[in-house]
Amino acid sequence: MNKGFFITFEGGEACGKSTQIKMLKEYIQNLPNKEKFLFVREPGGTPLTEEIRKLILNYEIDKPLPMTELLLFCATRVENVEKLVLPALNNGKVVIADRFYDSTIAYQGMARNIMNSEDILQLTKKIIGNLKPDLTFYLKISPEEAFKRKKNMKEGLDRIEKEGLEFHKAVSKGYDFISSIEKERFYIIDATKSPDEIFDEILKVLKSKIPDYFL
Ligand SMILES: Nc1ncnc2c1ncn2[C@@H]1O[C@H](COP(=O)(O)OP(=O)(O)OP(=O)(O)O)[C@@H](O)[C@H]1O
Ligand SMILES: [Mg+2]
Repeated sequence: MNKGFFITFEGGEACGKSTQIKMLKEYIQNLPNKEKFLFVREPGGTPLTEEIRKLILNYEIDKPLPMTELLLFCATRVENVEKLVLPALNNGKVVIADRFYDSTIAYQGMARNIMNSEDILQLTKKIIGNLKPDLTFYLKISPEEAFKRKKNMKEGLDRIEKEGLEFHKAVSKGYDFISSIEKERFYIIDATKSPDEIFDEILKVLKSKIPDYFL
C-alpha cells in the first residue's frame, strides 16, 4: 500500500491534458507544501526515457513496428515507475502523470490492434506489479472536435498525431473501454468546456479527495 496518491490525466490528442497539468502545476507552485507533488510524463521523465521518447515519437528514418512501439512504451513505463513514481509515492507524495497505461490500451491495444486490451493489462501487471492510479481524469472529446483543435496548434505534430481520423476514433473507443472496466478510479470530464471551467472542476475533485494536500 502506497502512502501517497497517484493521479493520471488521459484522453486522446488535443483534449487538453497538458493544458490542465500546466494550470495545476502553476496552482501548486503557490502552495506551501509544493514539494509534496511530483509531475511526470509518459513516455519520458528520466534521461534514458526522454531518449526513448524521441525514438517513439519522432523517428522517421526507420519507423518502429507496432509491437516495437508497444514494447518501447512498456520499457519507458518500467523506468518511470521504478525510478520516479514508486519512490515518490512511498515518500507520501502526490504523483501527477501526463498519460499512463490507459494510453497503451487505447493506442497500441485498440487503435493499432497489436494485442487485446486484456493482454495489455496482464503485461502491465507483469511490468509494474499492482500499481494503479488512484484517480484518473479522462478528458473526453470527440475525435472530430480534437481534429479541429489540432489544426489550430502551431507546433509540429509528432508521428502518432499524424494518424488519420479512424485511428483516433479507435483511440476514443479504447478509453471508453478501460474507463468502463476500471470505473472506480475514473473521473470523466467534458473536455469541450473552457480550460478554466475544467480546471475548477479538477480542483474541486482534488480538494475533496485529498484535502490534506491542499492547504
Ligand atoms: N478546454 C479547451 N478548450 C479549447 N481548446 C483547448 C482546451 N484545452 C486545451 N485547448 C487547446 O487545444 C490544444 C491541445 O491542448 P493540449 O496540448 O493541452 O492537449 P493534450 O491533451 O496535452 O494533447 P497531446 O495528447 O497531443 O499531448 C492547444 O492548442 C490548447 O490551447
Ligand atoms: Mg500533451
